[in-house]
Amino acid sequence: MEPINRSENSWFLLLSVIIMAVAVWHVPNFISHVRANSVSTSNLPHHAIATRFNSADRKMDHSSSAAAEMRSDFLQLLRSRRTAEDPGCESVIRLKRIQFITNYCLLQNLSQSSKHSTKIQQNCAVPLSVESAQPVKDPLFQETPTPTYSEAMESCPKKEIPNFKELLQEENFYLTTEAGEQGRLPVLLLKLKEDTPERRPAVVFLHSTHKNKEWLRPLLEAYASRNYIAIAIDSRYHGERAKNLTTYQDALVSSWKHGDTMPFIFDTVWDLIKLADHLVERPDIDPSRIGITGESLGGMHTWLGAAAETRYSVVAPVIGVQGFRWAIEHDMWQARVDSLKRLFEEARVDLGKSAIDKEVVEKVWDRIAPGLASRFDAPYTVPAIALRPLLILNGEKDPRCPLSGLELPESRARKEYEEANSAENFKLVAEPGIGHQMTPLMVKQASEWFDQHLKP
Ligand SMILES: *[C@@H]1O[C@H](CO)[C@@H](O)[C@H](O)[C@H]1NC(C)=O
Ligand SMILES: *[C@@H]1O[C@H](CO)[C@@H](O)[C@H](O)[C@H]1NC(C)=O
Repeated sequence: MEPINRSENSWFLLLSVIIMAVAVWHVPNFISHVRANSVSTSNLPHHAIATRFNSADRKMDHSSSAAAEMRSDFLQLLRSRRTAEDPGCESVIRLKRIQFITNYCLLQNLSQSSKHSTKIQQNCAVPLSVESAQPVKDPLFQETPTPTYSEAMESCPKKEIPNFKELLQEENFYLTTEAGEQGRLPVLLLKLKEDTPERRPAVVFLHSTHKNKEWLRPLLEAYASRNYIAIAIDSRYHGERAKNLTTYQDALVSSWKHGDTMPFIFDTVWDLIKLADHLVERPDIDPSRIGITGESLGGMHTWLGAAAETRYSVVAPVIGVQGFRWAIEHDMWQARVDSLKRLFEEARVDLGKSAIDKEVVEKVWDRIAPGLASRFDAPYTVPAIALRPLLILNGEKDPRCPLSGLELPESRARKEYEEANSAENFKLVAEPGIGHQMTPLMVKQASEWFDQHLKP
């Protein structure tokens, strides 16, 4: 009995050594793989981020070093308020599995293994996982009555295609953009069935306040008919990321009270960076031809998302671009504040004021979206989109995006484009007599902009 046991033991030992060798060989590769796939998540050294952004800049545009610096600062700010690392992080689980085998074979004890895992976990970013989802039948609108029809979206140019409905393919999925409930980004994608494996241009559409990705379906279908891959997301605290009619407003107030999230614009910008990580990996999308557009809040997401993420290569914000600092300095912040009344009322009470004034406005932006009225405001972030084709569509009489507030960002951006002989890649159109409203003309102009630059 004994000799057999001994030989079994040596086989066992040999096997252990092989497994350990394989594990040791793979663990560092695996970790660097996780890092490579989630560069923009927290706990990465700053230089790693800078490297990535520099290389993206070299590849995707010729933006100035000021723009690269702004992006790096912006990314650091975004990283500073991500949800704490998820202990269920996939890489830790996989690492534990490898370690379990290793430890089991080498008869090491588990306390050592868990110590090692804790160390690894600090470097462990949430991997960009894709989870399939069901179509949303009855999407949540945080406004009453529920909107039913948009003349502007219905007017979007389309191609007449027989059997369009049969040819239309729909994907619903979630992307993991960080730990926690809000770190699950719901995505809706529409495209035409294609026989050729050719990569196509994509356009990301961003909805306005209190609406959702399903609201954008008329636009998605129109672009899909024109051979784009059309993508919409629910922004933070909207659509599937909302529980009830007050979720978004509750989140804004909570951010004011606790300063731990950035529900106004910035958290969704983070999601847009992670969405770009996914889109460039898809076999059906041409990674050099990804456009981005959106209305109102979606226009702000478009502008700041494109400023932060150079992989959005053609940009068309609609009634979103505005000067937050300019509005404070020129006493023109009232219409913007009215659109977020509960938040500013809470802040007014907390600050012991009898009326909302510019100090309240300034303090709210500082707290819930730090830098929005300073280093990430339009004069810095609009020029940072250069030299990518940028079409800003606004209403001439929009009180939430006063036109005079765009003079400085416009002139700075224009200079960037002109100096690089690409003046034609920058356009600001203020539709005469129009307030805070997306019009059929804006939808048409955005469509033509994408057709011209993304060539579907
Ligand atoms: C397990 O590891 C700890 C610390 O590394 C050590 O003190 C302990 O003696 C080990 N136990 C066994 C049974 O090997
Ligand atoms: C919405 O949900 C939140 C959190 O669950 C809750 O605190 C709030 O009272 C709800 N609001 C309404 C109008 O039901």
